[in-house]
Amino acid sequence: MTAKPLPGQPHFAYRGEELYVEDLRLDDLARQHGTPLFVYSKAAMLAALAAYQRGFAGRRAQICYAMKANSSLAVLQVFARAGCGFDIVSGGELERVLAAGGDVAKVIFSGVGKTRAEMRRALDAGIGCFNVESEAELEVLNEVALAAGRRAPVSIRVNPNVDAKTHPYISTGLKGNKFGIAHERTLATYQRAAALPGLQVVGIDCHIGSQITQEAPYLDAMDRVLDLVQAIEAAGIPLHHIDFGGGLGIDYNGDTPPPADALWAKLLAKLDARGYGQRQLMIEPGRSLVGNAGVCLTEVLYLKPGEQKNFCIVDAAMNDLPRPAMYEAYHQIVPLAPRAGKAGLWDVVGPVCESGDWLGRDRALHVQPGDRLAVLSAGAYCMSMASNYNTRGRAAEILVDGDQAHLIRRRETPADTFQLEKLL
Ligand code: LLP
Repeated sequence: MTAKPLPGQPHFAYRGEELYVEDLRLDDLARQHGTPLFVYSKAAMLAALAAYQRGFAGRRAQICYAMKANSSLAVLQVFARAGCGFDIVSGGELERVLAAGGDVAKVIFSGVGKTRAEMRRALDAGIGCFNVESEAELEVLNEVALAAGRRAPVSIRVNPNVDAKTHPYISTGLKGNKFGIAHERTLATYQRAAALPGLQVVGIDCHIGSQITQEAPYLDAMDRVLDLVQAIEAAGIPLHHIDFGGGLGIDYNGDTPPPADALWAKLLAKLDARGYGQRQLMIEPGRSLVGNAGVCLTEVLYLKPGEQKNFCIVDAAMNDLPRPAMYEAYHQIVPLAPRAGKAGLWDVVGPVCESGDWLGRDRALHVQPGDRLAVLSAGAYCMSMASNYNTRGRAAEILVDGDQAHLIRRRETPADTFQLEKLL
């Protein structure tokens, strides 16, 4: 039987009239484990990683998976075993790296609001680099390191003031964003860092946004960062590595981001031309490694046709899939077993008591109660942003490897959701 892979998600394919992930039928997984259910393809994650690895062949480069995209322990394990480091943004994420057996020396710690306790724990664990985001943070990190009798390895995150041309909530490299140190302040900040005894300057860092689908913002940011590298090194401060952050987009609905290897061929050509091609490089991709490696399965509960709108009420909701409600993000929604016949237009909505609880609007679907659907491109920023709103237990997660399905997180029970609470 010829398989028809889904555009953007080739590890998910229709065989005949049924949707498969690798060698398993998704409907079987939904039946066994219930819905809503996140299902990930290990092969899809490794294929996404391989595109970066091909791009960096023959170079000195460290890929640090930005685990905020999907921080489930087994997902971290897949990337740790493949040689990745991790970009973390909290003490909690550091503990996850340790629990998953990741190499702590390959951890970089980003974020504008690191606490003293988080800095101390990361220093004691021996992380590879702190990406410092403000002059005030630099002073505090110096104090914490001196008190611990250590020198903290630091990069400074520069804000290159380039427009990543993405949603305003996920654009981070513009002057008006809270992230990084302004281009103009960078050299002075490096001079201060080099003078502080508790710090060891090791690199420079930038990250301009997320779901970037064009090359130009990356090329512009690289030029701006290399100008700074030149100025900082001319001032006598050597930089061991250059970190270009993450941000590469994925195909949600006909989006056409450059493939990672093609993007890096262009970026490396620029690095070569400017004489930095042999420098140690780091990147922090999140979404592009996991986004299209996952789907969320859900069951149709009720159909509610109306005068103005037809609602298809499913058992997944904004607490499981927050991106439509938060960013009006588009996720494709497809049936696990398409029915013959004429499709209607449905707003696919969840059971949560908010009008903002929608997963897709005006979708052409031919569905009946009891049918199962897959919300696509759900591997990144879905489970990691899921909540217990409306006291809904978070979904279970399955990682598929060929014809093997591993339950990597069981479904939360109501008791799980209130286990930390106490009656008066
Ligand atoms: N490095 C830093 C410092 C970041 O802030 C981020 C993402 C990344 C790396 C990874 O970026 P990626 O490769 O995943 O684009 N919740 C939003 C996305 C927020 C991204 C935040 N920072 C969404 O669902 O679209």
